[in-house]
Amino acid sequence: MSRRKIVAGNWKMNLDRTQARELTAAVAARRGTAAAVELVLCPPALYVETVGTALAAAQSDIGLGGQNVHDKPNGAFTGEVSPPMLVDLGCRYVILGHSERRTLCGETDAVVNAKTKAALAAGLTPIVCVGETLAEREADRTAAVVTGQVQGSLAGLSAADLEKIVVAYEPVWAIGTGKVATPEQAQEVHALIRSQLAALSSAAVAAQVRIQYGGSVKPDNAADLAAQPDIDGALVGGASLKADDFLGIAKAFAG
Ligand code: 13P
Repeated sequence: MSRRKIVAGNWKMNLDRTQARELTAAVAARRGTAAAVELVLCPPALYVETVGTALAAAQSDIGLGGQNVHDKPNGAFTGEVSPPMLVDLGCRYVILGHSERRTLCGETDAVVNAKTKAALAAGLTPIVCVGETLAEREADRTAAVVTGQVQGSLAGLSAADLEKIVVAYEPVWAIGTGKVATPEQAQEVHALIRSQLAALSSAAVAAQVRIQYGGSVKPDNAADLAAQPDIDGALVGGASLKADDFLGIAKAFAG
């Protein structure tokens, strides 16, 4: 069982086009020492092409991803972006069900499930996000909430599709707050997610799936997270906007 570590930068709604180009070039130029780790950049949709062009110019192996996608390939959906459009611009990944979309845009597990299937059908690797709020953790509901999100978001996926996806555990209380989950807290939920994946398919399939941790990951806390057996990478927000910080995290996961 060897899962290649994967560290993805979720830039959220940040940077302008020049900054996006410069950050991409800086990450690509200094990526060398973390070569064992798969890296992915997820810029705002409007900058996907800019970042893709910068990665190609640098002859980089860094992957490109969207932050969201619609569940239909085309049609009368004003303002939306489809899975084939992301593929057309060179994306291999797409973040789905981020807590900001669940909370701010009302995305339910059923919506995330439809998007996950659509992304897979287009050949994208979905990075499916789950995680509990502070109130849910304090009410001892973490396991129930995360189990429900995993089962709902991944319902009906074949074993072959499940094997391809990435899951990101992002406790909502740790996102953008500077409050990182302890490695033990994170490991406990990652192990739970893996057992849920096994229940949805088999232990063999679950053992292939990479599970990222997200929520205030920084270069100085990444190594302790990376040392946990079920933490296979990170989904990085704020720290992914600085090349040194993002690559510092990647290095920690390279071991
Ligand atoms: P921060 O790393 O800024 O806490 O954000 C985490 C996140 O939401 C990544 O998707």
